[in-house]
Amino acid sequence: MRFWTPTKIRALKGKTRFATLTCYDATSAAIIEAMGQEAFPLVLVGDSVGMTMQGHDSPLPVTLDEMVYHTRCVARALRSPMLIADLPFGSYQAGDDDGFRAALRLIKEGCADGVKLEGGERVVPLVRRLVEAGIPVCGHLGLTPQSCLAMGGFKVQGRDPEAAKRLILDARALETAGCFAIVAEGVPSALGRTLTEAVHVPVIGIGAGAGTDGQILVWQDLLGLTQGHRPKFARLFGNLGDAAKEALGAYHDAVADGSFPAESESYA
Ligand code: KIV
Repeated sequence: MRFWTPTKIRALKGKTRFATLTCYDATSAAIIEAMGQEAFPLVLVGDSVGMTMQGHDSPLPVTLDEMVYHTRCVARALRSPMLIADLPFGSYQAGDDDGFRAALRLIKEGCADGVKLEGGERVVPLVRRLVEAGIPVCGHLGLTPQSCLAMGGFKVQGRDPEAAKRLILDARALETAGCFAIVAEGVPSALGRTLTEAVHVPVIGIGAGAGTDGQILVWQDLLGLTQGHRPKFARLFGNLGDAAKEALGAYHDAVADGSFPAESESYA
């Protein structure tokens, strides 16, 4: 069991604003772990892995096998944050039996502590079934990237009153079904706050303004590793991309000028 549990995360609501983030490999998970037990309550192996690690332009191609693989990699190094894995596109859209089996694989083979899935009322029966089986579930509303084809891209959702009302009903339905937390992505700040006030479980925002209980950012975005488009909400908290380029340049030059390897870096 990891240090952070659904109960501890739920208890943060209304008390402490918290930061969470995505992660896809053991090296990065070890860095997160080194930040201390209390630092990050939740780490997500998101299907954003399709874009951040696999180079696709959406999460749609990510398979369940790939999610299990990345979750397992993270699980080996993660002891403190609750480890949540995404049910990828195609693993639950064709039926709840598929979704249930997919979640079992992420728990049993991936060593996740829970799963996240996208959608509102539509996914309530599956959420109920997972929760009844003892699997913690995190909801995901608003800009749901697995619907990017239907949405015509990655577009802010809930701008008109009808759509906003629908999202509020969805959030309440997910809470009633037993979700321990809900991710709200790509919604206007005012709606992010309203959703947060509408439920008793923590709402974790990404591009949802400052009024949510927690925030989540993608590892590559927040550390400045994303080479190309970075969404407006993704503040750079570091610039490891530039640091990597500098290090690669130094390595290249040291080999070229013969200063690497030195005596001390060679065997007698
Ligand atoms: O896949 C992902 O990384 C996500 C987060 C952006 C919330 O769903």
